[in-house]
Amino acid sequence: MKMFLPILFIFCLSFSASYASVQDFCVADLSMSDGPAGYPCKKVSGVSVDSFVYSGLGTAGNTTNIIKAAVTPAFVAQFPGVNGLGISAARLDLAVGGVIPMHTHPGASEILFIIEGTICAGFISSSANIVYFKTLNKGDIMIFPQGLLHFQINSGKGSALAFVSFSSPNPGLQILDFALFANNLPTELVTTTTFLDAAQVKKLKGVLGGTG
Ligand SMILES: *[C@@H]1O[C@H](CO)[C@@H](O)[C@H](O)[C@H]1NC(C)=O
Repeated sequence: MKMFLPILFIFCLSFSASYASVQDFCVADLSMSDGPAGYPCKKVSGVSVDSFVYSGLGTAGNTTNIIKAAVTPAFVAQFPGVNGLGISAARLDLAVGGVIPMHTHPGASEILFIIEGTICAGFISSSANIVYFKTLNKGDIMIFPQGLLHFQINSGKGSALAFVSFSSPNPGLQILDFALFANNLPTELVTTTTFLDAAQVKKLKGVLGGTG
């Protein structure tokens, strides 16, 4: 019995060590397809420190567009190292007058970190449509609960920069106006389902690239 416990202890240690090594990470093999549990893992021989570093958020996104803003994602598709870890990030650049229009991330909660400028941000609760919004300044952070509609507006005089992190490697992004007006759902059905008049629907389809 005297010898048994130390032996059992070492036995357990060796087990937990080998168990931990298969659990440490699962860098996405993007040649396979994504599923509810993420991508299959790359072989460890194909993993290096660069699997855990992403340099794509160092430069500003192109804000020459209708929203005067750019979202540069570091989701699993861009940054395979986050696969299976329940995290990801993105960079937001907002030119003067820029806006990230009302949108949701079906798969993740979000934290917004203001780096530069002034951003008016808010979200709407799903149960009572209560709006929570505030003007945020450099150093402020704000959270947006999973799945809720939210927005960010550059409300300052200069450009604004923020980073966001998500509670999923693949948070998804659905922008409300694009969902409503940037597709080929017939104007008549958009009108019926939104209570907007046909002229307004046609105008928004024209602006956002929808048809029908
Ligand atoms: C930014 O996007 C606009 C519109 O697509 C394009 O004309 C312009 O060349 C882009 N600028 C850069 C620096 O890529």
